[in-house]
Amino acid sequence: MRVGVIGTGHVGLITCASFAAVGHDVVGTDADRSKIDALSTGDMPFHEPGVADSIRAGMAGGRLSFSHETADAVREADVVFVCVGTPARASGEANLVAVEQAAREVVAHASAGLVIAEKSTVPAGTADRLTRSVALQRPDIAGSVEVVSNPEFLREGHALHDAMHPERILVGADSDAAFDVMRRLYEPFTSEGARLIETDIRTAELAKHACNAFLALKISYANALARLCERAGADVEAVTEVMGADSRIGPAFLNAGLGYGGYCFPKDLVAFDHLASSLGYDFAMLREVARINDEAIDATLEKVRDALWNLEDKRVALLGLAFKPGTDDVRIAPALMLAQRLRELGATVVGYDPHAAESAVRAQPELEVAPTAYEAAREAHCVVLCTEWEEFQELDFDKLGEIMATRVFVDGRNAIDGERAVAHGFHFYPTGRRPLTPGRA
Ligand code: UDX
Repeated sequence: MRVGVIGTGHVGLITCASFAAVGHDVVGTDADRSKIDALSTGDMPFHEPGVADSIRAGMAGGRLSFSHETADAVREADVVFVCVGTPARASGEANLVAVEQAAREVVAHASAGLVIAEKSTVPAGTADRLTRSVALQRPDIAGSVEVVSNPEFLREGHALHDAMHPERILVGADSDAAFDVMRRLYEPFTSEGARLIETDIRTAELAKHACNAFLALKISYANALARLCERAGADVEAVTEVMGADSRIGPAFLNAGLGYGGYCFPKDLVAFDHLASSLGYDFAMLREVARINDEAIDATLEKVRDALWNLEDKRVALLGLAFKPGTDDVRIAPALMLAQRLRELGATVVGYDPHAAESAVRAQPELEVAPTAYEAAREAHCVVLCTEWEEFQELDFDKLGEIMATRVFVDGRNAIDGERAVAHGFHFYPTGRRPLTPGRA
């Protein structure tokens, strides 16, 4: 089938790659012409495992191309995906200006029978608004262009894997014709056993918000437990292990630490809360999830202050800047928020990240970065592990101790075996667990 993709960010580019990989003909476009120029020469706008190879293979195989013109992505398409950003307004409401703009451009070039699929995360009711826009803009095809909801469930760092092996495909539509088009589109996946869930459109839109909000809730529940465990002298890792052993709870997304970041959870929570209140329901739980997430950074900051006393003229090294391992994305990254707070308290902050240093400095120009973890830790009074990159498992604490001013290690992701640090004279501060000091069992 012929697929158009509007927006080649983290969602749109993976949408291009996955549909081309299963044999559809895909044309991607983006309002940012420089992105299209880069993609057309095989350069990727961000680091994501497997995407560069997949995109290049799609282009080489003639299944995938990129164009500056929306018309090229729409003209022959059976389905056009809207994959543009839906950032939060100050009120928390999802900003749908880009969604409307993209839809207007699509509709301008649409022919009868086109299906427009919302892949961006949008509040329930957005498709209704888009359908009304179509009727206003193109009364000639209003009845035969359908908007459907097809939310993505991609985790950064695993996005291509998640797209190629979806745990479920969710399609919200209002007609058999639209469902048939989407069933044909996803046939390469459902024929391999992927589960296709079909609902009405509003249900699909709301289910996406519900999923992300619940995942964030699990994380905040673990972080609230960490605060309690720190006060009770209990071990949050053991508590969440016990919880996760119950199949009704499950172990995933119960890792206490610096909390969630990224482009999705923070904005989706406030958008969901705003939607609920606009419908007359006070979903107060969502605000508590966000509060506990903010508190997780405060708790880590307090560990640094407890260890170092005054932070003026102290140097703090942050290991890991990306909002999670496997990506160079620093949008709403807890590490950058911690860096800001530390600087406000007078500390000098230096960061290291194997992939995200460049994007971190673009996001926070005042941030000093070092080329290695050890260079970041040189003369530092404290190291804070903020992102659990695999390479930090190999940290040489002997070498680290030699080059640091004082041997303090705050593990913001419970990624490190504290005994290794203590054996080399470190004062070790995990999350939701007892601090460890050298010379004391
Ligand atoms: C999320 C959802 O997982 C995905 O389904 C949705 O489509 C988009 O948003 P993503 O934001 O890419 O994906 O990353 P995810 O792996 O969910 O992690 C989000 C944040 O939560 C990261 O900052 C991560 O460090 C943090 N996290 C995750 C925790 O703090 N604890 C956990 O147990 C899990």
